Amino acid sequence: MKRLDGKTALITGGARGIGFAFARRYAQEGARVAIADIDHDRAVASAKEIGGQTIAIDFDVTDQASIDAGVAKTAAQFGQIDILINNAAIFSAAPITEIMRDDYNRVFDINISGSLFTMQAVARHMIGRGIKGKIINMASQAGRRGEPLVAVYCASKAAIISLTQSAGLDLIQHGINVNAIAPGVVDGEHWDGVDAFFAKHEGKAPGQKKKEVGEAVPYGRMGTADDLTGMAVFLASSDADYIVAQTYNVDGGNWMS
Ligand SMILES: NC(=O)c1ccc[n+]([C@@H]2O[C@H](COP(=O)([O-])OP(=O)(O)OC[C@H]3O[C@@H](n4cnc5c(N)ncnc54)[C@H](O)[C@@H]3O)[C@@H](O)[C@H]2O)c1
Repeated sequence: MKRLDGKTALITGGARGIGFAFARRYAQEGARVAIADIDHDRAVASAKEIGGQTIAIDFDVTDQASIDAGVAKTAAQFGQIDILINNAAIFSAAPITEIMRDDYNRVFDINISGSLFTMQAVARHMIGRGIKGKIINMASQAGRRGEPLVAVYCASKAAIISLTQSAGLDLIQHGINVNAIAPGVVDGEHWDGVDAFFAKHEGKAPGQKKKEVGEAVPYGRMGTADDLTGMAVFLASSDADYIVAQTYNVDGGNWMS
């Protein structure tokens, strides 16, 4: 018996990076998976790569109609949704004096509103059908402490930790567990962009920032997306039934709380 046999998971931003690693691991654990991403082509290719009962769903977390349609389509395809991973997010960095209002609005719209209203839609689905589901939000070590050039992204991830607490306390009355994962520094396309930003703003050579942050991790290296999948399986399983409104650091020892 696999740990997620018979379960259906909807994973936003599952087309690449950490979300893709979650989708692949969930499928290996027996789950049916909907990769719900704004990048249609990548989502289709990723679903095909994983195979089995994995589908791609066009999904924009900033668009309520898209959220509602994606939830309905996943439920129609697989019968119901048992697990949501609110994983879609974007990164942004700028000194305080250069933050643009449009950029702030976009980050908050995707990272916070997107997670909240996707969580709401899936929670309504779960409550309506009496599903004792699991919701996992993607926070970050960036939500634990501010960083000088990363104010907007850090604030958005601090909001995810707070939303996880409030939603966790609200939804447990329905048997829905809401928890979060706070990764540290996870190598991949996301961090390629972060590295390029710091190369520009701190005059570092390409790859230098990644090298520095990796060496600073107590474990001794940056994380990989696969390092996070064990926690994502655990929080989605019945082993986590008594865990409510928590944010877990999976970061090689970077943060303690
Ligand atoms: N990589 C890291 O070091 C790190 C560290 C801490 C937390 N996180 C968090 O983990 C999660 C995944 O990070 P990642 O590194 O895999 O990111 P990524 O940039 O590689 O992937 C993000 C995915 O989200 C999708 N997406 C973007 N906007 C969307 C929208 N409006 N609607 C639906 N999908 C959308 C993208 O198409 C992409 O597939 C994010 O929440 C991120 O903040 C990442």
